[in-house]
Amino acid sequence: MDEIKLPISGAIVAVHAEAEERARTIQTADDAEQFRIHFLARKGGVGALFDEMHNVPPEHKPLVGKQLNELRAGVTALYEDAKARIAAGEVKEEPQIDLSLPGKFHAIGSTHPITQTIDDMKRIFASMGFAVADGPEIEDDYHNFEALNFAPDHPARDMQDTFFVDKDILLRTHTSPVQIRVMQNQKPPIRAIMPGRVYRNEAVSARSYCLFHQVEGLYVDKNVTFSELKGTLVAFAKEFYGSSLKYKFRPSFFPFTEPSLEMDITCFLCKGKGCRMCKDSGWLEVLGAGMVHPNVLKNCDIDPEIYTGFAFGTGIERIAILRHGIPDIRMLFENDLRFLKQF
Ligand code: PHE
Repeated sequence: MDEIKLPISGAIVAVHAEAEERARTIQTADDAEQFRIHFLARKGGVGALFDEMHNVPPEHKPLVGKQLNELRAGVTALYEDAKARIAAGEVKEEPQIDLSLPGKFHAIGSTHPITQTIDDMKRIFASMGFAVADGPEIEDDYHNFEALNFAPDHPARDMQDTFFVDKDILLRTHTSPVQIRVMQNQKPPIRAIMPGRVYRNEAVSARSYCLFHQVEGLYVDKNVTFSELKGTLVAFAKEFYGSSLKYKFRPSFFPFTEPSLEMDITCFLCKGKGCRMCKDSGWLEVLGAGMVHPNVLKNCDIDPEIYTGFAFGTGIERIAILRHGIPDIRMLFENDLRFLKQF
């Protein structure tokens, strides 16, 4: 009888072919271990064939035994070989990727419209040589009022509804106290803008909020003039709002500047015809400014006989609201993603 016709001979050939094929797919130490368990463990593919020996007729046992021993040696060699390849780094441990899993969602943030507006202003003023300075939001009466030439009972203090923390400590009502801090720490020439948060105890509505942002500007040197102030403001406004902008200056009053002015620009919405946004005037008020008051310079040990300077201040929310047509100032503070995503 031809031994090869025995059922077990076919099984030996099949197991060997399967092991050869599977050995080619071994990538990791874990794959190699799975291979060993599948074929070489006591109850594995090779072991199971040895268990079949008792069904083999006695006259064929020597030959089948030899074939089984060859199978075990061959499969063991495949296993040792795969392990050697892994140890030699020929097959890398690759992370298993499940292509059927849904992709990961990456939320992409955007810059808040207030930050965008401040960044635009920083960029424009940097091109005119202005540095950026910073100061505390919790201030004392001296920096927020007194050094800025608000006398203790000056009615102008009422212009700014103040949140007091203590008798002398308050939340700054404007960024002008940073002017004082800069002038106390630096000698002229000084050229800086000071963006930051300010607080006012006002009734919250669509138009005003208890907290908002301002950008302050300060330039102090010998021979700084009022026309330089106007030139700087016009250069800024044309860059920021567009070169076709129309503007006008009105005389105004601030205790810390003399003379003082306010700048108006033509209404974005009606282009000067008059509408709800500009209260039918055709103009929007965008900033306050003036020549630094001699008393303010003196309070900072800067001699007003030698130095002059100008300062300006502008509200950021107001600008952002006007530029983007935002109907309610409170939207800028609610952090509703549906709103913020639009910028
Ligand atoms: N601090 C003023 C305000 O809050 C604005 C201002 C700044 C005016 C600098 C003149 C000079 O209204």
